[in-house]
Amino acid sequence: MKKITNICCIGAGYVGGPTMAVIAQKCPEIKVTVVDINSQRIADWNSTDFNKLPIYEPGLKEVVAEARGRNLFFSTEIEKAIEEAEMIFISVNTPTKTYGKGKGMAADLKYIELCARQIAKVAKTDKIVVEKSTLPVRTAETLRSILDNTGNGVKFQILSNPEFLAEGTAIDDLHNADRVLIGGEQSADGQNAMEALTEIYAHWLPKERILQTNVWSSELSKLTANAFLAQRVSSINSLSALCEKTEANIEELSKAIGADSRIGPKFLKASVGFGGSCFQKDILNLVYICQSLGLQEVADYWEQVIIMNDYQKRRFADNIINSLFNTVSGKKIAFLGWAFKKDTNDTRETAAMYVADILMSDMAQIAVYDPKVRPEKMFADVEYLNSRSIDENKKLLFPKNDPYVACKDAHAIAILTEWDEFKTYDWKRIYDNMMKPAFIFDGRNILDHKKLIEIGFNLKAIGK
Ligand code: NAD
Ligand code: UDX
Repeated sequence: MKKITNICCIGAGYVGGPTMAVIAQKCPEIKVTVVDINSQRIADWNSTDFNKLPIYEPGLKEVVAEARGRNLFFSTEIEKAIEEAEMIFISVNTPTKTYGKGKGMAADLKYIELCARQIAKVAKTDKIVVEKSTLPVRTAETLRSILDNTGNGVKFQILSNPEFLAEGTAIDDLHNADRVLIGGEQSADGQNAMEALTEIYAHWLPKERILQTNVWSSELSKLTANAFLAQRVSSINSLSALCEKTEANIEELSKAIGADSRIGPKFLKASVGFGGSCFQKDILNLVYICQSLGLQEVADYWEQVIIMNDYQKRRFADNIINSLFNTVSGKKIAFLGWAFKKDTNDTRETAAMYVADILMSDMAQIAVYDPKVRPEKMFADVEYLNSRSIDENKKLLFPKNDPYVACKDAHAIAILTEWDEFKTYDWKRIYDNMMKPAFIFDGRNILDHKKLIEIGFNLKAIGK
């Protein structure tokens, strides 16, 4: 088997950036070039100020500092990088389609197709093409037909190697992956390609954690792993509503359920609802695939995970409105947190933007503090959701860079992200500077509720 010495990754996003940085760190003899059409993103990856990297992720800047310029490169010269590489990872975005057939459900594969056409056009030597993006099952078939029919007669092997990292813990997840999944063609050439990729991960992971399967199992495992994880969150969130009606306590329930070794304690934290770029998109895609194959009951089963998540976000916003005497018009509500989870600057599908949009429709004034999310991003998020003009949004949404300023004179505080720093605030000082009665809605159950009640807050928490 030929050892890989040159890798190209198309897509320098939340997956391509950290994943390739770790491969370069662990395999110093391999040249890794990450390319993107977004020249600003590439410039940010090349920034000498490591705080300007386009992605905030604990531990990332140290890895980039170690490998960048040695064997890790970020570039906009896509064709050159493709031509030179023996192995090409495709790590571009696969969002939910916003138009045409499958609108609102199917994965939009236009970026994937463009990559395949570009590889086919440029390649002059045999290549291993690796699906790193999350894709519908049987996408490799489409890739093969593009590569074989529009290429220069060179040979391609297609592997599926989905990424299981979670944002906020990406570097740790990559360094200590539970498993790496590699799906390949069931032939001698397919086996060789799988071995070449296995060899790369074996630089730092034990071989027994590197699983080899057929391509279709690998593609489908990624979609379904996310569906299972999201299902756990929706399951516990559905029970949070029941707890609120019965005085059962969701945290006690989670602990009791999770203590069963067959169930396990992780992913049972009730919240304002899951966000992020993957869960909703991947389940919708799974539902669409099932519908397309005539499996309506299977589609309905998984769709309920999304329905429950939408309910949870709406329920949280309604609870704020109902508690504030059925009107939030003109009232200041402080949001602590905008990112979809802690330790990331990513806001895709964040519950915060949905809750903000509902409250803004009722003419509330939302003051937001998030340690890592920039104001432009917050405005872009609400603009994506609603039909208000930018000027109208600017009269209702006020990003602040100080949490105490955000909470001053507020009628209520809503905790939308579980940032650790929120636990360290001077809550008495915050209370003293608020309108009374002062409400706090803990959408993440991270604060010391007993203490807040002692201070004088009217407290509402998820599932309590
Ligand atoms: P992202 O939007 O952060 O990054 C994708 C990048 O690809 C963008 O910078 C975009 O400019 C670039 N791109 C698009 N088309 C291109 C082209 N033709 N040529 C060059 N560059 C191009 O997306 P992401 O979060 O990194 O996700 C990428 C894939 O990985 C998706 O399929 C996603 O489902 C999957 N995934 C994401 C996560 C996660 O936590 N974000 C985890 C596992 C898997
Ligand atoms: C997810 C998968 O975990 C990861 O394996 C996959 O590769 C990409 O999608 P990510 O979306 O980055 O990762 O974050 P994750 O930790 O899964 O959280 C998703 C959402 O669920 C967040 O909004 C989080 O706050 C929420 N969540 C998670 C809960 O509300 N409760 C939990 O117990 C766990």
